[in-house]
Amino acid sequence: MTAASAPGKCILFGEHAVVYGQPAIAVAIEQRCEVKIEETNTENWIIDGLNYLPEKHPHVEGLRNRLWFQGPSLKLNIISEVPAGSGLGSSAALSIALAAAMRAKKGRRVGIDGSWHEGYSSEINQTDAYSDNLQKTDPGSICIGGKKLFGIDAIDSDELGILGHAVEAASQGGRASPTDTAAVSLGGAVLVSDKREESAEWQYSRNLNTPEGERKWEVHKISLPESFDEVSLVIGDTGVHAPTGDMVAGVAELLQKNPEKMQEIVAIGKLVRRATIAMKDGDLQALGNAMTENHLLLRGLGVSHPKLENLIKAAAPYSLGVKLTGAGGGGCMIALTTQPKTVSQAIEMAGGTAYVSKLGAGGVHLHE
Ligand code: MEV
Repeated sequence: MTAASAPGKCILFGEHAVVYGQPAIAVAIEQRCEVKIEETNTENWIIDGLNYLPEKHPHVEGLRNRLWFQGPSLKLNIISEVPAGSGLGSSAALSIALAAAMRAKKGRRVGIDGSWHEGYSSEINQTDAYSDNLQKTDPGSICIGGKKLFGIDAIDSDELGILGHAVEAASQGGRASPTDTAAVSLGGAVLVSDKREESAEWQYSRNLNTPEGERKWEVHKISLPESFDEVSLVIGDTGVHAPTGDMVAGVAELLQKNPEKMQEIVAIGKLVRRATIAMKDGDLQALGNAMTENHLLLRGLGVSHPKLENLIKAAAPYSLGVKLTGAGGGGCMIALTTQPKTVSQAIEMAGGTAYVSKLGAGGVHLHE
């Protein structure tokens, strides 16, 4: 059996606007999704003891077509602390953990000089993973005189990021930024931007052809100053499920009908740049204020929900900042606070389910 886990994520700033090339900041959270895989001699794949239905699991299907199209059937067990359809990156966590487990089990062929002869990489040809023309062999899978690596040696965070982003995009109508998949694969805090930012550690670029045109993102890691140890994120789940693809499509429709709303997208981008400086300086109050401001702009895009507003109102008096997180329309809100217990109680009293996390948990992890 091979197992891997990946964290959920919270977007601190920039959701929705990042789909249009504006910057966004996300952190990995302590709640994780673990996936165990093993080969089975049944004809069908099995998920959690049930027959696998591709239409019910588009992310699994996307990975199967990209990483496991020639292998034997698999039996998957998914244990997740990340609530599904709640804006906490449950599908990204599942995709990244599963991609890691599959690659570790399948292995990777390398040449005698250690160069890859198999797999997806920004340097080789990342577009292969994004192709609709699936059922292809991995790039360069023929290798004479090389060797095969398995387990942790076969895993590469760039490849996981590409595969995760490609399957997220495919299941979200072709519109997905790499924010969620970068946060859950790299862990810590990430900044996704339309340009390389000097203030952050650049990791890789991503391109995607969306229905609204070609998009390019630069993915960075940011280190959190020590003052972040003093604060927690309290996550309040409304229990209302809103598929990300529908919410993203709703914003696209809004912008098409009301092009002036693009000003709000641009305003979110400017706010994120300000927040990046507050984050670097460790100015928690400025960061909290920017979160609350970001929420107001998201409300203007029509992605809030009365239950989100209710939880936000309950948490605000004890928090530095409050906002919805992720796609909205239900799902979760977050509060940045030094009083996690009080905020959790306020959220529960208002009818939500509270989760507490430090900012910036560890990324994908293979369980040997
Ligand atoms: C979803 O967690 C975040 C969105 O910005 C969509 C995306 O970035 O792909 C709403």
